[in-house]
Amino acid sequence: MALPREHWASRTSFIMAAVGSAIGLGNVWRFPYVAYANGGGAFLIPYFFALFTCGIPLLMVEYMMGKRARGGAPQAFEAVRPFMSWAGWLACIFAFVITTYYCCIMAWSWDYVWYSFKLSWSADASVFFNEQVLNKSIGVGTLGAIQSHILIGLILTWLAILAILWKGIGAVGKVVMVTVPLPVLCLVILAIRGLTLPGAAAGMTYYLQPDFAKLADARVWLAAYGQILFSLSLGMGILQAYASYLPKDADISNNAFMTGLTNCGFSFFAGFAVFSALGFLAYLEGVPVADVVKAGPDLAFVTYPTIISQLPFWASFFGVVFFIMLLTLGIDSAFSLVESFATSIKDATGMRHTKVVLWLCIIGAVMGIIYTTRGGLYWLDIVDKYASDYGLVTIALAECIVIGWIFGASKFRKEINDTSEIRIGFWWDVCIKFLTPAILIFILVKSIITNILEPYGDYPLWANVLGGWGMVGLLIIVSILLGIKYNCRRVE
Ligand code: PHE
Repeated sequence: MALPREHWASRTSFIMAAVGSAIGLGNVWRFPYVAYANGGGAFLIPYFFALFTCGIPLLMVEYMMGKRARGGAPQAFEAVRPFMSWAGWLACIFAFVITTYYCCIMAWSWDYVWYSFKLSWSADASVFFNEQVLNKSIGVGTLGAIQSHILIGLILTWLAILAILWKGIGAVGKVVMVTVPLPVLCLVILAIRGLTLPGAAAGMTYYLQPDFAKLADARVWLAAYGQILFSLSLGMGILQAYASYLPKDADISNNAFMTGLTNCGFSFFAGFAVFSALGFLAYLEGVPVADVVKAGPDLAFVTYPTIISQLPFWASFFGVVFFIMLLTLGIDSAFSLVESFATSIKDATGMRHTKVVLWLCIIGAVMGIIYTTRGGLYWLDIVDKYASDYGLVTIALAECIVIGWIFGASKFRKEINDTSEIRIGFWWDVCIKFLTPAILIFILVKSIITNILEPYGDYPLWANVLGGWGMVGLLIIVSILLGIKYNCRRVE
């Protein structure tokens, strides 16, 4: 006899887990920059528009798909439409590929917690990061030796994921009660510190000063939609997996509003910590804020450490707080990505939970070794670019088509409303059937055209073909094969 499916201990654990997955490194190093570059305060208009027309409606789709099928993304797709499970597999394996490099970024963060005690980067944070920590090779074609300090961080990260996922969803529900509030606390500390530094006001003005003219630019709206999809961890099979552990009468729409709004509120607030600190750096260097603005790893591992070492007191303390924040921000996103694949494999094969998790952690850690080499960052950059340009957009589009057009938006909405506190209206159908898919198609076509016309970054074409197109193509083939092998099978 199969065991009954596990459930979340409470509604709060589910919401916290979904919020933990959504709130990740991107909220700190992506959102503030995207907002600043796309109209500052005015960006909030397209951003919230995207949240309500695409983010929250899709959260409802994913929650409901997982809850009704009581299975991971492939089972959820299959339950809506036979022969569609490949789309769910595609979501899970994209998620898994993303985890392999996401964990490497976390590995650097472990190292930086350690470096914070001595502020080891003080002389020149950029030289320290590129030449000592990454020890970057001359180019993408030269992998070079594995950097043992990064490898140690990688192993620690995977051990943490293994330990957290080992006992199943009940334990995840407990862990997120720490990994969600802790980075919020760190961020509050950093924001208070930042806002009380000289130059903070100029930084904040830069971040928030509205440039309404930008709203006429279609790219700003696309940036808002892209950021919403990425930030809410949509299109990765995570939310279907998490929702598959919900009880039958669980609420959908209110949970979606809560997750979406909490995540976006956190992003907005993260901008306070980031831009006040950037204002301080600009003040110290006597340059305009625009000259010091950075995003991505450069912000977290070069610019922010530079700022930390300039702090008048307790610099090491703030360094530790910052990197602990990155670690705790990242960990719940990382294990949610693994859980997406783990749940789907378990549901398709009936394999034991612990066995699946153990194997995924071993394979993930081994795959991640490539990013610990001297050429690792180049590959991380390429794989990240293609995975985030194509993965989530394609899957979100498949969700809109399958739910909106094949299953029927109003029929699905009725299912959502049956157990939800907030009853959603016809606007939801319009978003899922027309607005969101139209925008997703636009984003997808635009990415394909730009990436074909111009290989990404300064990398040679062969590297783009291998790490980008080849990787995407391979994942599509694997997902179709998995879809064929495990079509319609549900083992509980
Ligand atoms: N939502 C996370 C962030 O904003 C990133 C992420 C994307 C995590 C996709 C899981 C899946 O950083």
